Amino acid sequence: MHTTAKKVLLVDDEIGTLEVMGTLLEAQGFSVGFAASSSDARRQLESTPFDAVVSDVMFDGHPEGTQILAMTREVRPEAIVILMTGYPQIDGAVAAIKDGAVDYLQKPVDSSVLGATIHRALRERDLRGQQEEFTFQSMVDILSDLVSQTIERVDPYTAGHGERTRKYCREIASGLGLDRVTTERLELAAIAHDYGKIYLDDLGFLTKKGPLTSAEYKEVQRHPEVGATKLGDHRELKDVCRFVAEHHERWDGAGYPLRLKGKEISAAGRILGVVEVFDSLTTKRSYKNPWSLDKTIDFFEAQSGKAFEPEVLDTFLRQLETQGAAWLNAPQRDLEAAGIAPAADVGDGARQA
Ligand SMILES: [Fe+2]
Repeated sequence: MHTTAKKVLLVDDEIGTLEVMGTLLEAQGFSVGFAASSSDARRQLESTPFDAVVSDVMFDGHPEGTQILAMTREVRPEAIVILMTGYPQIDGAVAAIKDGAVDYLQKPVDSSVLGATIHRALRERDLRGQQEEFTFQSMVDILSDLVSQTIERVDPYTAGHGERTRKYCREIASGLGLDRVTTERLELAAIAHDYGKIYLDDLGFLTKKGPLTSAEYKEVQRHPEVGATKLGDHRELKDVCRFVAEHHERWDGAGYPLRLKGKEISAAGRILGVVEVFDSLTTKRSYKNPWSLDKTIDFFEAQSGKAFEPEVLDTFLRQLETQGAAWLNAPQRDLEAAGIAPAADVGDGARQA
């Protein structure tokens, strides 16, 4: 069986029809499975990811075709269904198409017509899938960009910070084997993690050149919780809000706002914490010059088991070995693209907020 061949399940209670049609479809490059009843078809659909189901309508005098169509929709919704009948009825054909069959062919069916019908339906299915994915992904990217721009407006030196943080989070999550849903939520949190900054009092101190006063530092420390609250308590965003709220917590419990410790912080929150600090240290801010890669690596190694979880940090440092230089060049390009003039040298002290 060729692994890239499209898999077709032929369902008919006439064994002779199955054999002849199966041979002809295999000669056209399809990989063919056979079922002689609806229960047999269900078993096969449950165990094999068929691309297409081609089924007779009448089985031993009973119109089981519609049942097979409904069952395929349930078990393999991505599979296309083509029905064949020796007793064509317009009503039946219309009802079958409404219920999701892509075609309704009259027996005897010419195998080359059937092969072409399957290929056409699969191409249309794949195209539809790509368009839906493209549209949804595009909307996520557009909205993410708008959220990033809103945050960058209050601190232009963070141009591109959200998008870069998202990219680094995705790569560490992949290295750690985080599941897809959590990774997507982490990416959204990476974009929105500093959203709370736009609600702080007296936003001027975000771009201040010198150290913050204790009152200013206290104010800036409100941003993780404010951000999580402002993003709302929609059930769908619950995890995203949690990751946003945790992005300044530390593995040793010395972070803020809740001083969570170790695995009290979610895995996604621990990843975001590492990545966010990396991008802050290696980019130019109003109060500091960018750190070199060596200095940044020394800092992270010294903070293993303190600010950061060792396992997350090890994965991150391994990726830095291969991608660090590229990751250090990206911020300057983002600043220039945002039209931010380079600031005068201001020292290299860290202020992680
Ligand atoms: Fe932050």
